[in-house]
Order: sequence, then C-alpha cells, then structure tokens
Amino acid sequence: MNRCGVFDSGVGGLSVAKELLRAGFFKEIIYFGDTARVPYGNKNESTIIRYSLEALEFLKNFDIEFLVVACNSASSVAIEELKKEASFPVVGVIEAGVKAVEKEDKNSNILLVGTKRTINSGKYQKLLLKKGFKNILSKATPLFVPLVEEGFVEGKLVDDVFEIYFSDIKKENIDIIILGCTHYPFLSSSFKKHFPNAKLIHSGQAIVELLKEQYNLLPKFDSTIKLFASDNPEELRIKAKEWLNFSLI
Ligand code: DGL
Repeated sequence: MNRCGVFDSGVGGLSVAKELLRAGFFKEIIYFGDTARVPYGNKNESTIIRYSLEALEFLKNFDIEFLVVACNSASSVAIEELKKEASFPVVGVIEAGVKAVEKEDKNSNILLVGTKRTINSGKYQKLLLKKGFKNILSKATPLFVPLVEEGFVEGKLVDDVFEIYFSDIKKENIDIIILGCTHYPFLSSSFKKHFPNAKLIHSGQAIVELLKEQYNLLPKFDSTIKLFASDNPEELRIKAKEWLNFSLI
C-alpha cells in the first residue's frame, strides 16, 4: 500500500506513527495533528465527530488508501461516521487495544486510562467485558495530555499528577494498564515507575498487530512520513524529530 493517513488531536498520534514507520507497511504516512483544537478528549461527541470528518477530508487530498485513527477519543465516538465517509479501510485504536489484551488472563486487574470522552464513552469497558475480563478499573486522566504536549514526560510535576490521579489505587495490584490515549506512551517510563508490576498496552503496537492479522500487511517499505498540523506545524516537526528518529519530508 502506498499511503496511509494518520490523525490525532496533536502530537500524541506520533506514538502510533512511530510504530507504523517501524512496521514498513506503507510507503508514505501522511500525519495530521489538529494542534489548533487539541485537546479533543474534553469536547462533546458531536464536536469530535465534526473535527474527525474534517481531518478525513484533509487527508483525502493525498490519495490515501488507508486511515488509522491515532486518537482514542476520536475512535471512541467517530469511527462509524469515518467509515461511512471513506472508500478505504478505517481502523481505530480501541479495537486494536482490546485485541492486544484478549489473550491475557481473564482475572487480570486491568487499569484503563484515557481522556474523559474515551472513558465516558464506555467503549473499551464494553468490549473488554465481552471478552470476559471482569476486573476493570477505569480512570480519566486528561492532565497527561497537556503535559505531553508541553514535553513533560518525567520528573516531579509528572510524579505529582500520578499521585493525585492514582492515590486511591493499590498500584502493585495492577497487572495490565491500557494506555487509552495515544499521548500516554510518551509517559511510559513514568507509568513503569508508578506501576512496577503492570504490562503496558500501547495503541501503536496494538495497531501494528491488528493490521498484520486482519489486513495481512507485510513489512515492504522503508517508510517515510509527511507532517501537517492545523497550528504551529514547526512545533510538531520538532517533537517528531525528537521522538520518531525518522527522516522527515
Ligand atoms: N491523543 C488523543 C487520544 O488518544 C487525544 C487527547 C486529547 O486531545 O484529549 O485520546
């Protein structure tokens, strides 16, 4: 496949783009970060659907043959509308994240973290219950999004936010954490520090596995990426240079 469109509200989807670049399924990745309107996660459903459809319209200009919705908030409320409007496959990160845990022990203690919209949509929880998982704790942790956007991924400020959000949780009992927001993989080392026994589920790795299994995609290309943003594209490029380790076009 030649071109895959990828979008997120901001820089978070770069965590997904990074895994897609590594996988080499697509010749070129066209990334759109809606940085003018981030965060999506505290907006209402109809606003996120509108923003997502606009992202799709923008990406259609590049003759994409595939769309990866690298935003859990958009995947939680807009995936059906996106599928209706696209003449190519559209894959969201939620179905991928659930697939990534399906072989785990059904008695595992799962902690699901994400934006308010993702958690309140109940989409992950419903799919996990269907797969037989019973011990699911979910928590909206929206402050992690601006922290990552501003480049705070470790240190005192981040530790304090972890303490505030998770003071009521027995951290050593958590077996699996679903990082239900694509900004959160950038906080992986902080999650590991605070939840030493937990396995982290990452939307980007989950998408790569799903694409391999369901679409039979193979590592064929030395993939490249083109970046677009609705505001401050230079900042997105700087973050991408720092985080992706890939040559940018
Ligand atoms: N990275 C996005 C997600 O996966 C959105 C974060 C936000 O804009 O609130 O949910």
